[in-house]
Amino acid sequence: MSVIKIDNLTKDYGNHRGIFDLTINIKKGEVYGFLGPNGAGKSTTMRHVMGFSKPDNGSITVNGLDSWTEQVKIKENIGYLAGEISLPNDMTGLQYLRLISKMRKMKSFDYAEELLEYFEIDPNSNIKKMSKGMKQKIAIVATFMHDPEVILLDEPTSGLDPLMQERFIELVRKEQQKGKTIFMSSHIFEEISKVCDRVGIVKNGNLIKELEMSSLRNNEEKTYILRFKNDDDAKRIIELYPEANLNNDETIITINDNDINRFIKDLSTCNLAYLKEKEESLEEYFMKFYEGDVDD
Ligand SMILES: Nc1ncnc2c1ncn2[C@@H]1O[C@H](COP(=O)(O)OP(=O)(O)OP(=O)(O)O)[C@@H](O)[C@H]1O
Ligand SMILES: [Mg+2]
Repeated sequence: MSVIKIDNLTKDYGNHRGIFDLTINIKKGEVYGFLGPNGAGKSTTMRHVMGFSKPDNGSITVNGLDSWTEQVKIKENIGYLAGEISLPNDMTGLQYLRLISKMRKMKSFDYAEELLEYFEIDPNSNIKKMSKGMKQKIAIVATFMHDPEVILLDEPTSGLDPLMQERFIELVRKEQQKGKTIFMSSHIFEEISKVCDRVGIVKNGNLIKELEMSSLRNNEEKTYILRFKNDDDAKRIIELYPEANLNNDETIITINDNDINRFIKDLSTCNLAYLKEKEESLEEYFMKFYEGDVDD
């Protein structure tokens, strides 16, 4: 069963802004990455999951509860890190977290203490005097400290230094091992590739692509970069593989795994200087969707 079920969600803000007919199903225990350019609709979608805004069309349920009509009940078992956090300025980090824990009627503050230590937070400093990253860390603790089953993270590592980003990723992994369902937006491809099971790409309010991360990791097409010691060999291979490209002295060929034996056989008759596999990074893959009008 889907824990987060977004069905044909539409929120039209006019002028082609908003989200349109968006359907996403996130399974229990899944970490779902949400990617897309600025203004694509990621935060809007997450706010609708939280029930902060009424859909124009479609519906969202979290564990079977309707996000709009049963938002109070949903909030008991959800952790939400907003894209633009706003914390009260007139208290310390600890006072704020204690206040939230009281409002949530949390029985124990132990996990909050653990997280404060984990992120090396000085809980007694005034929020007003905190840096952006320090505030972000307080908001992260508030998101996780009640051990919710469902966690929504809107650009969670924005403002964190590389060490803290790494710690955050480690935290997400631990939460995943506990069986948590996580919906996370990000602009950092590496972060998405490290933790997500599945990714959805949204553009202009439409979900344009969904894919399993494992399928990307085990891509059947590989690109090879070759350098031949003599031009005749290069010419011969390019004749055999017309889709090959020449880039300076290097020949670049994309081969399906099914054709690898034929490729090796053809290469065995050549005098090669070197052969290497070009790894298409996740970033390169996703940039195709960000740029231009690529739909698939
Ligand atoms: N309350 C609102 N009223 C009118 N337009 C809105 C409102 N909220 C969002 N929008 C518009 O909806 C679109 C999606 O915005 P959203 O904040 O969801 O994008 P995003 O994918 O989170 O972008 P970013 O990566 O910059 O955080 C934008 O065009 C935005 O201007
Ligand atoms: Mg956003």
